[in-house]
Amino acid sequence: MSEGGGLAMLNMQELLSLVKGRVAIGEEMREHTSFRIGGPADFFIEPMDRQDFIRAVGFFTSRRIPFVILGRGSNILVHDEGIRGGVIMTGTALQQFSIKKQQVEADAGVSVSLLAEKTFSSSLGGIELLQGIPGTVGGAVRMNAGAWGQEIFQVLSWVEVLRGGRTSVLYPDELEYGYRQGGFGSEIVLRAGFRLKRLSEREHAERSRRVQEIRLQRARTQPLSFPNAGSVFKNPERSIGGESLSAGALIDRCGLKGYSCGGALVSELHGNFIVNTGSASAADVMKLVEVIRNRVAERFGVVLELEIGLLGFDGVICR
Ligand code: EPU
Repeated sequence: MSEGGGLAMLNMQELLSLVKGRVAIGEEMREHTSFRIGGPADFFIEPMDRQDFIRAVGFFTSRRIPFVILGRGSNILVHDEGIRGGVIMTGTALQQFSIKKQQVEADAGVSVSLLAEKTFSSSLGGIELLQGIPGTVGGAVRMNAGAWGQEIFQVLSWVEVLRGGRTSVLYPDELEYGYRQGGFGSEIVLRAGFRLKRLSEREHAERSRRVQEIRLQRARTQPLSFPNAGSVFKNPERSIGGESLSAGALIDRCGLKGYSCGGALVSELHGNFIVNTGSASAADVMKLVEVIRNRVAERFGVVLELEIGLLGFDGVICR
């Protein structure tokens, strides 16, 4: 705990009287990240419902205590020293979703994979290929997540956000979204609306085959049995020597698959995945990130940009 113990206790008491959900001090973030890496958070909150969530955000905002919002912790690396300030989870509080004709509404804490599965089984197309993606709707909207040619902003109608204690609705044309970025600032995503495509029986059958193919391909090319955070780097936007090469392919061509720093290993299956072989620290991962960046830059003249978010490095959050 970086604050004085007294101040922390005072904040803790106030938090406990304000928030109905679970509040903990010093929660180990490795319990809440898909990488299974990360030290303690000063204040860790799992609000009970939407109002509780908004109250928790208000607590930190009004006291100017830094905080971050976390879904399933699936696309981040948390520092070994943890996070100074608060972590507010969306999982329990923001779990509603509904499907009405082609309109789908989902709270930020809903699993993207579950949403993709439920909408597809209701014969709606547009996000079916996101089945198997580990994050939540909130995280996916914030970063315009995508896979196999489908992207959240292709089907997004509106986003309800929390900003300065007030809720408002934003539309895609008000956001500067792009490849793996939703164009948000400090807004917190509460809920999103999507418009999907009603599929005929034939279309549904065709897409089911594609879903099945992708499931097999994912199992073949991604290290699903080890803790990881998905693609570590964004794919470069420009072509290299006339070829459009993915980050994974560049890392592969540098012969880095199987290279390790401590417990962090470049997956043998996919160059753009770093896996935690059991005891990796965030420092191990960052060392490996530097090795990869340097090698790829030396050989191809491209500086790979991180796709995963860093939490607890440099204050509270950076991306
Ligand atoms: N490749 C190699 N060696 C490798 C890895 C890949 O040569 O070690 C080649 C593949 O053979 C393929 C190309 O690189 O020709 C692209 O690889 P892949 O199909 O795996 O796609 P990707 O560009 O690495 C992106 C997303 C993934 C998403 C897949 C499928 C990014 C950074 N990653 O990966 O998203 O699942 O496409 O659409 O955009 C994620 O964001 O966490 C994620 C997994």
